Amino acid sequence: MSVRRLAEDSVQPDGFKFSRDNAAWAKATIKKYPKGREQSAIIPLLMRAQEQDGWVTKAAIESVADMLGMPLIRALEVATFYTQFQLKPVGTKAHIQVCGTTPCMLRGSEELIRVCKNKISAHPLEPNEAGTLSWEEVECQGACVNAPMVMIFKDAYEDLTPEQLADIIDTFEAGKGDSVTPGPQNGRHLSAPIGGLTTLTSDDAPVKQKTAAKAPAKKSAAKPTGRTSTKPSAPKKAAKPDLSDANRPAAMERPDEIDDLKLISGVGPKIESVLHSIGVYKWEQITKWGEAEREWVDGYLKFKGRIERDDWVRQAKALAEGGVDEYVRVFGKKPR
Ligand code: FES
Repeated sequence: MSVRRLAEDSVQPDGFKFSRDNAAWAKATIKKYPKGREQSAIIPLLMRAQEQDGWVTKAAIESVADMLGMPLIRALEVATFYTQFQLKPVGTKAHIQVCGTTPCMLRGSEELIRVCKNKISAHPLEPNEAGTLSWEEVECQGACVNAPMVMIFKDAYEDLTPEQLADIIDTFEAGKGDSVTPGPQNGRHLSAPIGGLTTLTSDDAPVKQKTAAKAPAKKSAAKPTGRTSTKPSAPKKAAKPDLSDANRPAAMERPDEIDDLKLISGVGPKIESVLHSIGVYKWEQITKWGEAEREWVDGYLKFKGRIERDDWVRQAKALAEGGVDEYVRVFGKKPR
């Protein structure tokens, strides 16, 4: 954990005052806690102070401690402990907190830090010249299963490559941070396996039932023993559909201009490259997939119904008909 100190006096403002709205909000927030336990409101109040001024000033900590009737040292302990609180001025457009703890480090966080050093500043907590961007290394943010990851203000961006982080930083610098969807950046759903489910798949249940129906006598005659009766059966692997199968969607040679398939929710860089490998380069191709083709691709990607759930065909239709504008019109949000 880095040493966390208050900013030098030279950058500390003379005082702190909540705006009228924030003061009313703070009063209502304090009231949520039982009498005598008002100090529990320290975290939301410090966070609101940070949102108001961009960072947590010494005057803000003093003011909040006063409001809650708590010793200043207790408020300082909280403010200096949590890395959510910025104790120095940070980038006005983005402050990138790169998790550098072991799982993220093993998955490439050092490369992410290199991107921050190159694009923002050689040193953590030292904003770039324009004062718009800054970065720091922080401890585990609780998203290890989606490592490596960064936090930007309240949002987490996960499963990152250095190139994706560079793009995200550029987007925030351009003032378009809202257009970046937080969460995994590799196309997977939350922390689900990128290649689809591997256990508890819907295929397993019918298979087990069939087995039981075929050999009921054997099952009932078998003498259960502690060991054999509790041993889990090996997971059944579904066979990958054959590339020569008639249901494989029509493929094309790679055209000079290809569509960005990643605009379809559920398609990340890895899935896009698999689609390219089976000759799918255009949104238009996906619009023509019937049920059989969808099932074939679903099986090929081991997606277990995700193409249906994410409605790739409808997404592809919107994109093929009018690009991002039509997508926004149909779905009410930008494609990822
Ligand atoms: S180690 Fe990075 S989020 Fe946990």
